[in-house]
Amino acid sequence: MNQQELKRAVGQAAVAYVKPGEILGVGTGSTVDCFIDALKESGIEVPACVSSSVRSTEKLQALGYKVVDLNEVERISVYIDGADEIDPSFAMIKGGGGALTREKIVAMVSDTFVCIADESKKVDVLGKFPLPIEVIPMAVRAVSRVIEEMGGEPVVRDFTTDNGNKIIDVHGWQMHDARMWEERLNQIVGVVTVGLFAKRSADVLLLGTEQGVKTFEK
Ligand code: 5RP
Repeated sequence: MNQQELKRAVGQAAVAYVKPGEILGVGTGSTVDCFIDALKESGIEVPACVSSSVRSTEKLQALGYKVVDLNEVERISVYIDGADEIDPSFAMIKGGGGALTREKIVAMVSDTFVCIADESKKVDVLGKFPLPIEVIPMAVRAVSRVIEEMGGEPVVRDFTTDNGNKIIDVHGWQMHDARMWEERLNQIVGVVTVGLFAKRSADVLLLGTEQGVKTFEK
């Protein structure tokens, strides 16, 4: 199976976690796109979705789903999203698609975070995938200098987020203690969000492998 087929398989498996009649949290990325397609095919009805990006909102609406603002919602029972890397403690690097801030907000208010990923995303230590950090535009150089002082190699992405900010992708860090890194990087003035999801990690991992979809629970 190629990577796209693995993504389709986990997208289909994630449909089993959707609670009919309850508002659904929807993440961003190519794996989530597969999930949205599978949800539509399943015919399961949800009253509305809270989306983590313009990209997912547009796809959901094109398929006839209602998308509501998070401010209209008290809580979300299930949030389904992908990851760029996930470690054995279910901490993740996210933000390859640039939606990390909204993803983190939706994840925070969700009871269950179901991570859907192909097996290439499972790692022992986070950091081979460059860590995305969303930054206020005027702080890009200042934050980059702090990152260099911390031994990272910052690369500014040619991209503007849905929130009007910039992304710095940081190479060269091996993050054994993801929670410590998350807290430390969040302290830098000018940083909006760091793409480490350690404090609010995933609860369930659906991993697409050559042997089928494997389910891991925390
Ligand atoms: C977007 C994300 C995605 O979940 C992550 O980049 C994985 O994407 P894909 O499913 O396309 O591999 O964090 O900001």
